[in-house]
Amino acid sequence: MANLHTNLAGIKSPNPFWLASAPPTNSGYQIMKAFDAGWGGAVWKTLGVPVVNVSSRYGALNYRDTRMMGFSNIELITDRPLRDNLREIEEVKKRFPDHAVIASLMVETKEEWHQLMRDVTNAGADGVELNFGCPHGMCERGMGSAVGQEPKVLKTIVSWVKEVATIPVIVKLTPNISDITRPAVAAVEGGGDAISLINTIQSIVGVDIDNFVPYPLVDGKSTNGGYCGPAVKPIAMNMLKNCAQHPQVNIPISGIGGIENWRDAVEFILLGATSVQVCTAAMHYGFGIIREMIAGLESYMDDKGFKTLDDFRGKALGNVKHWEDLNLKYKVVASINEDKCIGCQLCYTACEDGAHQAIGLSGDMLNRKPHIIEENCVGCNLCSLVCPVEECITMERRDSGKENLTWKERTLAGSIPKTFNDDLAGGLHHWVPEPEEALKKVKPLHYKYPS
Ligand SMILES: Cc1cc2nc3c(=O)[nH]c(=O)nc-3n(C[C@H](O)[C@H](O)[C@H](O)COP(=O)(O)O)c2cc1C
Ligand code: SF4
Ligand code: SF4
Repeated sequence: MANLHTNLAGIKSPNPFWLASAPPTNSGYQIMKAFDAGWGGAVWKTLGVPVVNVSSRYGALNYRDTRMMGFSNIELITDRPLRDNLREIEEVKKRFPDHAVIASLMVETKEEWHQLMRDVTNAGADGVELNFGCPHGMCERGMGSAVGQEPKVLKTIVSWVKEVATIPVIVKLTPNISDITRPAVAAVEGGGDAISLINTIQSIVGVDIDNFVPYPLVDGKSTNGGYCGPAVKPIAMNMLKNCAQHPQVNIPISGIGGIENWRDAVEFILLGATSVQVCTAAMHYGFGIIREMIAGLESYMDDKGFKTLDDFRGKALGNVKHWEDLNLKYKVVASINEDKCIGCQLCYTACEDGAHQAIGLSGDMLNRKPHIIEENCVGCNLCSLVCPVEECITMERRDSGKENLTWKERTLAGSIPKTFNDDLAGGLHHWVPEPEEALKKVKPLHYKYPS
């Protein structure tokens, strides 16, 4: 049976699923309820000098039938008194000694950092997370993402915290930066024990086109918010990969961003995460999602023969290369399974207008099923992605499987194209219809090929 026990820089939890610092971790009541449901850890809603929040504060990106595919907030840190939060941390730890309780912190001066560190350590927190990511409100006051965007400042503050720290320090990074590895390396240099990423992405999630105000509305005005939820997962995973592959970022990573089921968690762990944190999915569906997450992760590990999380952590990292290291000789083409095809012709339209005019129609009005014109197919995947029928369009291998030639090798061998007309550029062999064919009122049913 899979063992989900997790240890991130000394912070232990019964499983890798932690609630991220946000509204679901705003009180001891919620965190106890979450632990009772099965969550392994929780990062408390960021503590700091109590602040005032606005109303309303959330906006969402609905995509077709999907509600809250992207989520945005203009909320700041906790607006509850520090004393209440410290008392509740103590209570939660008493009841759940084996679960991870991590205090998220954000203050300004060295003295405040020292004092708050002592307070949360005395309350029994297992670790702290430094919030250098909040992209609205606090950054205007020199905190949050304002720190996350300045590696030198970040390093200084981490080192202040480490002066008094007796529990592990996680440094939470902002994605609002061009190269996430710079603050990650600064976190290591400052003495951070782990990093977590990502916090929210600066965004405007939508505009009320009748009142001319972006969402969320605050008495007819708004401000830029922080974006999260399923829509940000690809960005989070790329930043996680960049940090996990960086030789100087040799501390554990807690992965955050769009995680809502066990499969998302597995992907983050395969890219190097030790624990995963969830915010939007818990706000959307409640704490109960943890049951499926744990069961799914256990059964994945059992199927693959992984006994612990260490058995597959980072296993995908070796397969993420630079473009110049990819095999240029690898060749796939699309193949349509006629038995599965329902004749919707979405693939034809996509390839015709958005790719390489490599799908033809038969001309027989009773047969709407398209066929692949292999000579033109560059194997881009587009048709298989738009096809609504699963496994109807598959990509078939057409190279010998024996040759491996990369751009880097071609460069070293001097066989790269030097001019636009260079035969080696490959463009000379790629046939496309004549421009005027675009103006014909009927769809081209058959293509003629140059002899
Ligand atoms: C309403 C809201 C409030 C948040 N408040 C905090 C906070 O106080 N401290 C913090 O470090 N991150 C905060 N976050 C960011 C989350 O912890 C998390 O990094 C982000 O939402 C990405 O994860 P997700 O895609 O699972 O939501 C907040 C996010 C939301 C949506
Ligand atoms: S893989 Fe790309 S080029 Fe080939 S048929 Fe599909 S859409 Fe067209
Ligand atoms: S998109 Fe799929 S189902 Fe629709 S015509 Fe193309 S192959 Fe057939």
